[in-house]
Amino acid sequence: MLASLLAWTSGASLWLPPKASTFAASHDGLFYFILWTCVISFAVVIGVMTWFGITYRRRKEGERTSSNRGHFGLEVAWSVVPSLFLIVIFVWGFKGFMTMQVPPAGALTINVTAETWLWRFTHPTGETSTEELVIPVNRPVRLLMSSRDVIHSLYVPAFRAKRDVLPGRYTVLWFEATQEGTFPLYCTEYCGTNHSMMNVPVRVVSEEAYQQWLEEAGGPPDGLEMHEWGETLVRSQGCAACHSVDGSRGVGPSFLNLYGYEREFTDGTSRIADESYLRESILEPAALITVGYQNVMPSYAGQLSDEQLFALIAYIQTLSDRTVAE
Ligand code: CUA
Repeated sequence: MLASLLAWTSGASLWLPPKASTFAASHDGLFYFILWTCVISFAVVIGVMTWFGITYRRRKEGERTSSNRGHFGLEVAWSVVPSLFLIVIFVWGFKGFMTMQVPPAGALTINVTAETWLWRFTHPTGETSTEELVIPVNRPVRLLMSSRDVIHSLYVPAFRAKRDVLPGRYTVLWFEATQEGTFPLYCTEYCGTNHSMMNVPVRVVSEEAYQQWLEEAGGPPDGLEMHEWGETLVRSQGCAACHSVDGSRGVGPSFLNLYGYEREFTDGTSRIADESYLRESILEPAALITVGYQNVMPSYAGQLSDEQLFALIAYIQTLSDRTVAE
C-alpha cells in the first residue's frame, strides 16, 4: 500500500506501468483517487457494520428493538457526501476522456493496419515497419487504424492508450510520449491462434533519431545481407504463417526449391519461377494460382518497399538448389 501511495508521484507500481505519455499523470491520479475512495469507504462501511453488529446485538431473550426511526441529518450526509465524490470522478474522468478523444491539430499521423497476426505501421513518408513502432518524443502522434480481417485492439499500457481496430472503418488513437525508451504494444482483443504474438515494441526516440530512422527504414537493418533481411521479413511480414521453408505443405506452397523450378497453374499454363514471377506472386497473388492451392493470399502491393521485395526474393533464392532461372 505504501508502495502504491509513493507511486502517485514516481513511475511504475504494483498496478501500473511507468508513466510515458501526457495522459499518464491525470489517468493515474484518477485511478488512485477511485481506488482509495473505494478502500476507505469499504473499511468505514464494513467497520461500522461490524461494530454495530457487536454493540447492538440481542443480549437476552425478549429484548426489544429500539424504536428509533431515522436521523435526517445523517441520511442527508450519507447521500450528499458520496454524490460529491461521484461528481468529482465524473468531471475528472470526462475531462480525461475528451482529451484522449481529440488529437491536437498538427499531430503526426501514422497509419496502422492490423491483420492476423501482425501490426503494420506506415509513416507519412511511406516507410513501413511491422517489427516495431518508432515515434518521436514530445510530439503528438495520431494513429489512423484499420483491420484487414477481424477486430483487434491496440494497447500501449505505458501511454495509457487503447482503442479497438475494426475492419471496414478507421478508428483513431493518439498520444504524446514524454520519455525516450522502449515500451510494449499489445493486441488486447482476442483475435485467434497467434493473438498473443501481436506484441511489438514502441520505440520512442528523439526527433533527429526519428528522421534518421525514416531515412534508413528503406534499407536492411545494420549488418544484414539482403537475403538475411529477407529471412527476417518472411517472419515479420507474416509469410511464414502459410509458406514453409523446409518443403512441408502449408496453406501456400513451400519456399524450398521454388525459385528456378517450373510451376503449373490452375488456368492450365506453366512458368519458371524466376524473379519476376516471385515479385508478381507477392504483389498480385491472384494472377496465377499454383495447382493444388487456393486463391487466399492477400496482396502485398503497397505494403512492401521495393527493397523489401528484393530482400524477400534474395532469401527465397537461397532456399533453392538452382541458382539461375532459365
Ligand atoms: Cu490481434 Cu488479438
